[in-house]
Amino acid sequence: MYRTHNCGELRISDCDKNVTLSGWVQASRDFGGMTFIDLRDRYGITQLVFNMEDDQSLCEQARKLGREFVIKIGGKVRERSNKNPNRPTGDIEITVQSMDLLNASLVPPFTIEDESDGGDELRMKYRYIDLRRTPVQANIIFRSKLALETRRYLGQAGFIEVETPCLIKSTPEGARDFVVPSRMNPGQFYALPQSPQTFKQILMIAGLDKYFQIVKCFRDEDLRADRQPEFTQIDCEMAFVTREDVLNTFEGLIKDLYLNTKNIELADFPRITYDDAMRLYGSDKPDTRFEMKFVDLTQTVQGKGFVVFDNAELVVGICAKNQAMAYSNKQINELTDWVKRPQIGAKGLVYIKYNKDGSVKSSIGKFYSNDELNTWKELFDAQPGDMILIMAGDTDSTRSQLNELRLEMGARMGLRDWNKVAPLWVVDFPLLDWDEDSKRWHAMHHPFTSPKVEDIEKMQSGDFETIKSLRADAYDMVINGVEIGGGSIRIHDRALQAKNFDLLGFTKEEAEEQFGFLLGAFEYGAPPHGGIAFGFDRLCAVLNGQSSIRDFIAFPKNNQGRDMMIDAPASIDEKQLDELNLIIKRTSES
Ligand code: AMO
Repeated sequence: MYRTHNCGELRISDCDKNVTLSGWVQASRDFGGMTFIDLRDRYGITQLVFNMEDDQSLCEQARKLGREFVIKIGGKVRERSNKNPNRPTGDIEITVQSMDLLNASLVPPFTIEDESDGGDELRMKYRYIDLRRTPVQANIIFRSKLALETRRYLGQAGFIEVETPCLIKSTPEGARDFVVPSRMNPGQFYALPQSPQTFKQILMIAGLDKYFQIVKCFRDEDLRADRQPEFTQIDCEMAFVTREDVLNTFEGLIKDLYLNTKNIELADFPRITYDDAMRLYGSDKPDTRFEMKFVDLTQTVQGKGFVVFDNAELVVGICAKNQAMAYSNKQINELTDWVKRPQIGAKGLVYIKYNKDGSVKSSIGKFYSNDELNTWKELFDAQPGDMILIMAGDTDSTRSQLNELRLEMGARMGLRDWNKVAPLWVVDFPLLDWDEDSKRWHAMHHPFTSPKVEDIEKMQSGDFETIKSLRADAYDMVINGVEIGGGSIRIHDRALQAKNFDLLGFTKEEAEEQFGFLLGAFEYGAPPHGGIAFGFDRLCAVLNGQSSIRDFIAFPKNNQGRDMMIDAPASIDEKQLDELNLIIKRTSES
C-alpha cells in the first residue's frame, strides 16, 4: 500500500495515528539532529520529521533526498510545536519511522513554487514539472470541474452528447484548415474540423433534437493570448427553437456555471444590437464593466474651420472621469503617441480638459470658443475634473481606434476589475461582410446562418447597400470584453441556403461539391434549428479573471504553434512521405 492518506488531509484530530504517505520532496531543511521534509502531492503538503536520536540511518537517508525525489514514508502524526497557519496541514507533522525511495529525480530546471523562476519556453518543455505547481494544477482541476458541471447541466436539460468525426472535409469558419493526407486516397486530404458545424446540423435533421459536445476544434490562424490552434468548444444545437429559446437555455448554462464553480449569482444578461455595440463602444465585444460610452460629435463640431473634423466621416469621443488633473501636457503627448502606434494607427488625438476651477483647456481651443466646448460637455455629461478624448476619421477605423483607447483608459483607471462580471448578448449581426481585398462578401458568422426573417426578401436585391444592410439571426455572448461564445439560427431550406452560397460567390457546382450533403439533407425534412458554441478554454480563463487561455490547457502550443515538450510539428521520413504520395519542396537551406 502506498498511502493511507494524501498529503493535504491530516489535521490535529489525527494526532497519534500511524499513517503512510507518498509524494514528492518539495523542500528539505537539515538542522543537524533533525531533518524536516515537506512532502507534496496534488492535495497539499505535509511536514515530515526525521530525528537523529530516534533513527540515525533513516535520518541520514533523508538528508540525501533531493528536490522532487519520490518517497513513501510510514510514521506517526503529532502536533507541531511551531505551527504554520498558512497550510491546512500546518498544525501537525509526521515523525517518520520508515521510508522507501520510490524514484530519484534530477535537479528540476525551475522551482516548483506558485511563482516559478522558469521562463515560458522552459516551463513548456518540462510541462510535466510545470504541471506539478499548485496554481497550474488548480487551473487544470478547475477545467475538469467546469466540464463535469457543463455535462450535468446540459444532461439534465435533455441534451445528448454525440461525438462527431475529426477527419472531415473543410468547413468554412473563416480560418485556414489543418489538413491530413489520406494514404488510401492518394492526392486527397482530410481537413480537421474548425468546428462540428455541419455535423450538428445534420444531427438535428436526424431528429436528435438537442445535441452537445465538448469538442476539439482546429484552426490554422495567427495565435494570440486567447487563441490556440487546437482549442475546445462546448458545441450545442437544438431543433424547433427560436433565438429566444437558444439565448435563454445558454444564459441558464453560464449562470449555472458561475454559481456552481464561483458562487457568483448573475442577473439576467443585457442585450445590445451589433449596430449599437459598434456605435457606443466601437466593438462587437464591448467590455461593459465600465461605461465610457462613445458620444458622436460629428454634427456638433463640423463647419468651424477645423479641417480634421470637417473632413471626417465620424468625430467621436469618450469622457474619462476625473482625469483632467491626472494628464499633464507630456502625458497627453504620450497618450497621443500611443494611439498613433501602428497597432492602433490613429492620426491624432484631441483632448478637452474641464478643470475643477471651471476653466477649459483643449488642443483645439483655436477653432472652438469656450462656450462651444462647454456645450459639448453636456453631451458627455462631463463634470468639472473630467477629460474628453476625441478622434476623427472614417467611421470603421475611428471606432476601432477609439475602442482601443477606451479599453486602455479603462485599464489605466482601474475600471477593468476582474472581480466584476459583466456579461451581455450582442444580437442582430450583419449577415455578410464585404471584403475589399478579395472583392467579395464573406459570411460574418458562417454560411449556414439564417438572415432575419424580415430580411429574406431583400436577399434577392442586387443593390450593394441593401445586401450590406441584411441582418442575421446571429448572436455572441460576451463577458468582460471577451467573446465567450457565438451562434445563430440556421438556414434549413435548400433554396435559401443556395441563395446564401450564391451571395458568398460560390458557383452552383462549388456549393454542390463542398456542401451537397447538407443541401441534400435539407430536402429530407430538415426542422428549424439553431445553436451556439462556447470557447471552453476562454470560459475557463474568464471565470478565473485571466486573459491567457494557455494556462488552462494541459499541453498548450506556443505562439509559433509548437508543442515544446514533444517538439511538434516535426519532419517525417521519406518512407512516410512516399506512402502518402507527398513531395516536399526543399529550399536551398534544407
Ligand atoms: P465561432 O467561430 O464563433 O463559432 O467559435 C465559437 C467560440 O469558440 C471560441 N474560439 C476560440 N477559442 C480559442 N482559440 C481559438 N482559435 C478560437 N476560435 C474560436 C470563441 C468563439 O466565440 N460553429 C460556430 C458556432 C455556432 O454557430 O453554433 C463556431 O464555431 O470563444
